[in-house]
Amino acid sequence: MKTIAYQQCINPNCAATFDVGQTLTACTGCGELLDINYQWNKAALPKSLREFQARWQNRRFPLDYSGVWRFRDLLPFASDAMVCTVGEGQTFLQNAVCLGRHLGMWPGQLWLQYEGMNPSGSFKDNGMTAAFTHARIVGAQRVACASTGNTSASLALFAAMNGFQGIVFIGTGKIAFGKLSQALDYGARTLQIEGDFDTCLARVRQVSGQLGLYLMNSVNPFRLEGQKTIMYRILEALNWESPDWIIVPGGNLGNCSAFGKAFFELRELGLIKRIPRLAVINATGANTLHELVAGGLTWNGGNVNQAAITEHYKRMERDGIHAHTVASAIEIGHPVNLKKALRALHTMNGVVAQVTDEEILEAKALIGRFGFGCEPASAATIAGLQQLLARNIISRHERVACVLTGHGLKDPDATVYYHTGVNTKQAKQPEAQATWGHMSNQPVKVADDLDAIVQALGLDKNTLNNSRSTGYVPTPVELPFVEY
Ligand code: F0G
Repeated sequence: MKTIAYQQCINPNCAATFDVGQTLTACTGCGELLDINYQWNKAALPKSLREFQARWQNRRFPLDYSGVWRFRDLLPFASDAMVCTVGEGQTFLQNAVCLGRHLGMWPGQLWLQYEGMNPSGSFKDNGMTAAFTHARIVGAQRVACASTGNTSASLALFAAMNGFQGIVFIGTGKIAFGKLSQALDYGARTLQIEGDFDTCLARVRQVSGQLGLYLMNSVNPFRLEGQKTIMYRILEALNWESPDWIIVPGGNLGNCSAFGKAFFELRELGLIKRIPRLAVINATGANTLHELVAGGLTWNGGNVNQAAITEHYKRMERDGIHAHTVASAIEIGHPVNLKKALRALHTMNGVVAQVTDEEILEAKALIGRFGFGCEPASAATIAGLQQLLARNIISRHERVACVLTGHGLKDPDATVYYHTGVNTKQAKQPEAQATWGHMSNQPVKVADDLDAIVQALGLDKNTLNNSRSTGYVPTPVELPFVEY
């Protein structure tokens, strides 16, 4: 018996099922979101998660090399021949010793999952490989998405590599130039329409149905199947032990939904003993999930209080509230995966926090100062961690894995502005920011002259020549220690 994959409505009162050969982004019965579910043939599954890691050494076989498809037994909806892979998911979990120490955590307990190391520079590639595989199965030729930037970059890359026509819709919000440049370079037809991301997504959902475009946003349940694997890789890096916490930024809420599904299934399959807790971090200017959860909204066995959600959106409209944050990737007011996110919070005993733009940018500078760096949205994780430590929701001794969703070079304007105060126009800025960055690292203007350079480096010229080394001793990093 083979494992059978099917699509299923997440509303337990409907639970309609559909063939995986259909192209759907909502239940045709009740309009709710869909999952990809499986009738597992447990006998054909690895007996332990450990069995997956051997595949990685088989680097010449693209499906084993991929950080998504080497776990293909856990997302078995396609035959190997149909898979569209570009080598996604070669990402790593870094033990952020110095940053963890700086935040007052116990040694070695902070881990950063660098999803920016994907081919298009963000976690989206994990989902795109799965959705493009489905697009190939159903014979789609044109693929489309609305995007705050990363989805469009990833779509454009996969389309170019796999022979699809890519079409991306961006709003009039300020898309980071790193991301826009990718969509343009990879040849996607790029349409900028009046309105923010929420307007854009509503329009592209309508248009894709009418024009037969295959929709690549995270309402596409196949996207989330690929994104589940980020959790498998974190487990793998921790020798198949769950961390205590997973922290992730919340925008359209696809990622956190996928993480909840990953752990739900692993528990169901008896492949994991303990499920980590989940912290989803909103920006205060795009905090729909935070507001609704703070107001008492829960998954409630699938009977989510729709009236509360409708009321919230009505209030936003009445008060003219639109999402606004320096973290342009998560500038989303109407997150489409809201209900799945509530389910993930239930599965993972999760919490939701919100952080300000200033906190995001300071956290981003901290992450950069201690290593590889990331784009602003990803830094919401560390800003959220700081807050949750201060509120004693996360303890210093707990093991925490933060998902850094996008590469630092995606949005260099935000970084340059933080450090120099020079607004390159593309940089979105928090309002009323008088002085800039606590960790601002300004370039120093210096004359083309040895003495001037020595002085600017704070060195003594006399000790430079007569010592065995250059005499340069790096000064230890002096950063304020955070007390809780
Ligand atoms: N981090 C980054 C870097 C993102 O690009 C996004 C979403 C998120 C976090 C939020 O993830 O939507 O799963 O909650 N970017 C989308 C885009 C919306 O169009 O690129 P989510």
